[in-house]
Amino acid sequence: MSIEALQNQAAQLAKEAVTQIESADSTKELQQIRVQYTGKKGELTAISKEMRNLSNEEKPLLGQAISGFHETFNNAFGEKETRLKEAELAAQLAAETIDVTLPGRIQATGTRHILTQTREEIEDFFLGLGYQVVDGPEVELDLYNFEKMNLPKNHPARDMQDTFYIDDEVMLRTHTSPVQARTMEQHDFTKGPLKMISPGKVFRRDDDDATHSHQFQQIEGLVVDEHVTLADLKGTLLLFAQAMFGEQREIRLRPSYFPFTEPSVEADISCFKCEGAGCNICKQTGWIEILGSGVVHPDVLEMSGIDSKKYSGFAFGLGIERVAMLRHNVDDIRHFYQNDSRFLTQFKGGHK
Ligand code: DAH
Repeated sequence: MSIEALQNQAAQLAKEAVTQIESADSTKELQQIRVQYTGKKGELTAISKEMRNLSNEEKPLLGQAISGFHETFNNAFGEKETRLKEAELAAQLAAETIDVTLPGRIQATGTRHILTQTREEIEDFFLGLGYQVVDGPEVELDLYNFEKMNLPKNHPARDMQDTFYIDDEVMLRTHTSPVQARTMEQHDFTKGPLKMISPGKVFRRDDDDATHSHQFQQIEGLVVDEHVTLADLKGTLLLFAQAMFGEQREIRLRPSYFPFTEPSVEADISCFKCEGAGCNICKQTGWIEILGSGVVHPDVLEMSGIDSKKYSGFAFGLGIERVAMLRHNVDDIRHFYQNDSRFLTQFKGGHK
């Protein structure tokens, strides 16, 4: 082939290569173009191989033509490569963008059970008055559940608290009152008065209906010191009623009977819904029964090793479910135990 033909071919190839480079869509395609022209079997390589057939005068001319090709090719290639790399980077960045303004995935959190919340609120109130919170066994001895609470065997008041027996002497406790005897036995009066509350589960062989359950929770309270009177009980219960049911509450004590207290009283609070006018919550009476209490019977003190001539005390027992039902207008005690999250999640955030 003549040198002119080869020069033309090189120039022609350069033109074609530039067109191809310009229409390339990716750096990958660009690399293929390079191979197509300058690789081992490339089109320009074929022209270079003609070198050995040329005369010494013609060789430099072909050399120039080949350099010319490379210059044109590399310029076009370099420019295009830069642009494609930029575009590819931009595309990759766009594909990987995180939209930080999207709201996060909200984790579903549980709700503390309303009975737990109520219990802790009552505990906080009494802790504030200097009481300690003590625990007692749910499986209890007849000795503590009944006898030390002044309910000897065959006492008729036992009938109201029939329960589940493990054997003749061991049972599921029917109330939290046995914790009174357990703490009195342990108490050291040289360290100060006895002031305690004891929350926990109690059990009764009861028919389950809207206001009763075979298992429920109580809070027992007990204060023993010198010169404790019914007036101390009344003041304490008034503060409690106001803390739980509103500043405006008043209380009323009605005579009652419990074997472990003398005198015994039922405490009522003035109705928080109708303020005494009469409504469905207070059954038109203006008053709501809230707990049982009284002055600790001297025999109960003595049975737990406390000198009833020197010391006296008051005690009370309340149902946590009852407090929660009243405060939240819950019409059936069984809602508390059915684990229906539609019921339970209403109490997120506690008592308002
Ligand atoms: N233990 C009683 C019950 O479950 C409640 C009670 C009444 C507790 C009077 C007391 C009290 O401490 O003084 O029915």
